[in-house]
Formats: sequence, structure tokens, C-alpha cells
Amino acid sequence: MTGHYIALEGIEGTGKSTIAARLAGHLEQRGIDVLRVREPGGTATGERIRHVLLDPGGLVAPWSEALLFAAARAQLAAELVGPALRSGKWVVSDRSVYSSLAYQGGGRGLGVTEVRRVNAPGLGEVWPEMVVLLRLDAVTGLARQHDADRIGGEGIDFQTTVGEVFDDLAAAEPGRFVVVDASKAIETVWAAVLQQVEKRWVISSTG
Ligand code: TYD
Repeated sequence: MTGHYIALEGIEGTGKSTIAARLAGHLEQRGIDVLRVREPGGTATGERIRHVLLDPGGLVAPWSEALLFAAARAQLAAELVGPALRSGKWVVSDRSVYSSLAYQGGGRGLGVTEVRRVNAPGLGEVWPEMVVLLRLDAVTGLARQHDADRIGGEGIDFQTTVGEVFDDLAAAEPGRFVVVDASKAIETVWAAVLQQVEKRWVISSTG
């Protein structure tokens, strides 16, 4: 793997998509070849799985949910993220395997270890190198949310648990995670994220 894989993570309403778009744009402006993806989805197969997963009217049992997220992610790794990293591209991802650890492992109560175990075979070395955790309390996050999908529509207790598991994951892997306070204005959040990325890598204008 010669490229770099950065994932934006957090509960609902943290501004992940805005920050992912900014980061990808910033890197591209500096001549870096960037692949921007989102989870679940990003491939034709993954987008079909996304529909099953997020349809507010759908009925999906907890382990079925965890395995579908893992399936969509395995497809994304095989089809896009793995090849991009091997060719030296940077990958900026809106969510990653860590969402499954927090939402399915924690929120659904399936266990972080168990959910990690079903995701790992489909990913191999395709694992985020840096995870930017945009940290926000569940009440503020849900208040900022526009349209709730099947999982985003889970209540405050679920979102609180997800947030706590994200915190635990960040504490367990301090070399991989950077934690940014997402309660601040978006410009402040963006400045903090950029500072962390630039602390890790020298981003020259030639890439
Ligand atoms: P999305 O529309 O991408 O929302 P968001 O802006 O919050 O990222 O919806 C993704 C939803 O799926 C979100 O509620 C989080 C959830 N999710 C999981 O539960 N597990 C996962 O592994 C992933 C990637 C997402």
C-alpha cells in the first residue's frame, strides 16, 4: 500500500460529509490524486446494499445488518479502495469499518470484537490509516440531522452508546485516531482536521 487512507467518523450530524469534501478538495488542489468514497455504498453493488440497509421501511435483523455492511465494505475494498491505495492514491472516506464497530458492535450490542472479526477477512490490508473522529454529543447531533434513515432514526440512547464506543475505539488506538471537537463552527472544525492531517504528512504542492 503506497497511498494513504483517511476515514471521517462520528455519530449523526457531525459534519463528516462536509469535512470529507473539503479535505478531498484541499488535497486535490495540491496535486494529490484522491479517491473519495462513502459507506455504505461507493460501488454499484454497495449502493444496492445501501438501499436495503437504510430504507426506513425495511426490516433487517442485527447480524444481517452487520454482515450487509461488511459485504458492501468488502466490495468497496476489492473494487476501489485497495486498487487506489496500491496505485498511490489517497482515499478520503465518509465512514469506514469503525462505524460498524461502533454502530453494530456497540449500538446493536453485537460486540466490537465479533464485528471486527466478520469485517477483517473482506478487508485484508485495506484498513484506514488515519481515522478522524468528529466528536459531538448525541443530543446536538440528532438536532442537526436532516432526514433520518433506518439507523439514523434510532433514538438518543442508541446514538449515545455509539458515541461512547467511538470514544473507546479512539482511546484504544491513539496512533490511528485523531479526535476533533465537532460542536464548534464548521470552519474551526475544518482547521483542526487540516492541522492534524498536516501534522501526519507533509503535503507539498506536487503531492
Ligand atoms: P448516511 O446517509 O451515510 O449518513 P451519515 O451522514 O450519518 O453518514 O447513513 C449511514 C447510516 O448508516 C448512519 O446512520 C450510520 C450507519 N452505519 C452503520 O450503522 N454501520 C456502518 O458500518 C456504516 C458505514 C454506517
